Amino acid sequence: MIPAREECFELIRKYEMFPHIVRHTRVVTDVALFIAHKLNDSGQHLDIALVEAGALLHDITKTISITTGEDHAQTGYELIVSLGYPEVADIVRQHVRLGPVKYDPDVVTEAELVNYADKRVKHDKVVSLKDRFTDIRKRYKNKFAGLRVPFDVIEQETQVLEKKIFSKIDISPEEINRIFSESGSGKEARFF
Ligand SMILES: [Fe+2]
Repeated sequence: MIPAREECFELIRKYEMFPHIVRHTRVVTDVALFIAHKLNDSGQHLDIALVEAGALLHDITKTISITTGEDHAQTGYELIVSLGYPEVADIVRQHVRLGPVKYDPDVVTEAELVNYADKRVKHDKVVSLKDRFTDIRKRYKNKFAGLRVPFDVIEQETQVLEKKIFSKIDISPEEINRIFSESGSGKEARFF
């Protein structure tokens, strides 16, 4: 089961997501869906509804985690499982770091795509992986609950993932920045 878009919005309201996290969520969702359609046009078989729900809910416990210090990938997973959406929960669980799952060089999964899209959006702006990891290092230095590997390892893993994704479509990672700056990402969230 995958929650409908409106149910995802309801959850975002219910869990009182901070407006800046809503704006981040909206841009991550737009980027993930844009790349998902490109990938499917090129022969991948991504479930678009699953990508959308995973992206919309990836930071569902982020707001509370700022107070509690909890690992929001893990608590977001637990929350979404408890609501009866294990497939979406598994995407939430893996949005900071992928795994443990089998890596297939020929297939891009919904979890990989949401993880990647989140790494391309700093606040509500589309940026390069390099810029996003510089930002992550600065903001989360020594205080990222649940993270047991250095950011360098996650950055390298994400670079490998970026290569895989863009080897399958006819645009470059840099073009994503251009497309989203032209389409006005970062304006008021239009979904909420
Ligand atoms: Fe997050």
